[in-house]
Amino acid sequence: MEVFEPLTEESLRASLKTHSFGHPLYYLLTIDSTNDYAKRAAGRGASEGTLVVSEEQTKGRGRRGRSWFSPPGTAILMSLILRPELEPFETAGITLITAVAVSEAIFEVTELEAGIKWPNDIIIAGKKAGGILTEAGKDTDGRRYLIVGIGLNVNTGKFPEELRGKATSLRLCRGREVSRRELLIAVIAELERFYFNFIKTGRFSRIINRYREKSVTIGRRVKLIRAGREFEARAIDVTDKGGLLIKRDNGEIEEILSGEVSIR
Ligand code: BTN
Repeated sequence: MEVFEPLTEESLRASLKTHSFGHPLYYLLTIDSTNDYAKRAAGRGASEGTLVVSEEQTKGRGRRGRSWFSPPGTAILMSLILRPELEPFETAGITLITAVAVSEAIFEVTELEAGIKWPNDIIIAGKKAGGILTEAGKDTDGRRYLIVGIGLNVNTGKFPEELRGKATSLRLCRGREVSRRELLIAVIAELERFYFNFIKTGRFSRIINRYREKSVTIGRRVKLIRAGREFEARAIDVTDKGGLLIKRDNGEIEEILSGEVSIR
């Protein structure tokens, strides 16, 4: 196992600049999935801002039932509990806010420009450096919660054969090691700022503009898979609801709220 600068609980606690996010903080050496741990905690009533960080996941999950690859000690693997008073259809925006926060934090710490592939892939130099898995649930009192799971390939040196053409890490892009602590702290700070700004104003529009600037999907021809059926279209915009606006070859314009998109 390649081990870089360890993420100790003390150093994380001492560096956190946030008022809500990261309080409380659960730091684990290994876990099935930080999203599953956070869901169990939220189910028992854990408060908004609770953050779960792990060095390793034995059942890390990606979107659409995929597994999430990450050698221990190299990545940022974390999940945040949120309890926004939003309608379920509005929660897509939280994933978009998170993607913008992650991209801005990457730039702050590494000066790497990270694009966003709709809805939630963090892309650097055409390859995936991270992803976001937002999941909703209800605790035992029936109160709704959201879990925002973030996986970032920070110091990964090598990917398995099947991922090599598609995945990258910040270290591979930058040519040297990146401080996971500094990056984690920056992501949490950006996310807290954007999230509470959104909660206060109730508007996604400002953040959506930043999302649009970072989008590597808008303007591209995309392949969509819906209910097992594949079709192609041009991605023309991201809406204020966080959906992807596409123009089909017959000229029809449609908003896609969730789906599998692969860029051609
Ligand atoms: C995707 O791109 O498919 C989303 C990947 C999300 C991975 C992160 S790693 C931390 C958190 N725990 C999980 O099991 N998944 C998310």
